[in-house]
Amino acid sequence: MAQKLQINFLIDHIDPLGQGVFKLDDQVYFIPKTLPGEKGLAEVLKSRKNIHFCKVIKIDQLSTDRITPECPHFNECPGCHYLNVDYKEELEFKKASFKRMLAPIGSPEFETVQAPNRLNYRNRVQLHYHKRAQKLGFINGNENKIVEVPNCKIYRPELETSFKELYAKRDQYLRKRQRPKGHVELYLRNNEQPQINWDKSYAADGFTQVNHDMNLKLLDSVAQALEGFEAKTALDLFGGDGNLSKAAKVTEIFHIDRYPFEQKDNFHSLDLSTPESLEEFARRTNLEQAQLFIVDPPRAGFKHLSQWVEHFRPQMLIYVSCHPQTMIRDLRALDMPYEIVQTKLLDLFPSTFHFEAMSVLRFK
Ligand SMILES: C[S@@+](CC[C@H](N)C(=O)[O-])C[C@H]1O[C@@H](n2cnc3c(N)ncnc32)[C@H](O)[C@@H]1O
Repeated sequence: MAQKLQINFLIDHIDPLGQGVFKLDDQVYFIPKTLPGEKGLAEVLKSRKNIHFCKVIKIDQLSTDRITPECPHFNECPGCHYLNVDYKEELEFKKASFKRMLAPIGSPEFETVQAPNRLNYRNRVQLHYHKRAQKLGFINGNENKIVEVPNCKIYRPELETSFKELYAKRDQYLRKRQRPKGHVELYLRNNEQPQINWDKSYAADGFTQVNHDMNLKLLDSVAQALEGFEAKTALDLFGGDGNLSKAAKVTEIFHIDRYPFEQKDNFHSLDLSTPESLEEFARRTNLEQAQLFIVDPPRAGFKHLSQWVEHFRPQMLIYVSCHPQTMIRDLRALDMPYEIVQTKLLDLFPSTFHFEAMSVLRFK
């Protein structure tokens, strides 16, 4: 077997995916679990032209910011990215990353809402399995393998018994699976008993925000943005169960989602990734104007936002996003005169590179 290429690295900065970046000539190396200023040896796992995805072999010069991770799986696990620094430093990485992303929309100042708990916050965890290999854990895409995480600390304490049982009885569970590979999801809903779903799509029983405490802070942020704002009609786009529009004091709220939470007149099932969804919604409702939009799409964003905005001309637009780059893309595509009046980074996913962004826009 050909020997893998090894390189000596010196990390320059952390990228938005939480990986250390090392550049040499025109070659760029991404090395997860390293920190700026660190020197060491890495192995190249995959390459695409001059971009290389690597794995640390050893670190000879450690950053003074480095701490011992709270989780024993951290070095191998693809789930968390920042447990090798304290939470203050993690937030600094996220703020720097968000600041760079915001440059194309005029670098608005933003407030950061930090999380009360860095671990034990997720009410939903998805693990992947490989039946023949008897493996259960998170997928490390770079190495194309499942990393087992029996002592993972990311989930809420209420899930502990079920999580531990999954690992303890893993052989029995996997023997019963029909498929050679798949996934299992463990989740808590409305403080009920933990539920286990095998091989269903993510959040098959309906989307809920994964971090309950931070969802409350997100709802506070939406409520604050709406203070003093009066509207007759609101559209809660990608509304799920109507979580975000609970704070809106409006006469009429239309919830639109591909999988509407309820079978009620104001819950509309539409695929918002299609351009026809606007025409279909307008036809069903005869609505001509909506003063408020609350938009909360999945990572792909909402490519048709500008058409919806042009049609309903909202006075206020609150865009909440788990993938700030697509939010920024969609806001840049707006053709009408809107002003960004508030931007926030809400740390819904501590210990990982993910975070939630919120932008509040007013019609000028
Ligand atoms: C980030 S969640 C937000 C849900 C809700 N706003 C909340 O706070 O709980 C994104 C929502 O978009 C919905 N969704 C995903 N793709 C969609 C599509 N193409 N069209 C309409 N809704 C979609 C999902 O069902 C999910 O409810």
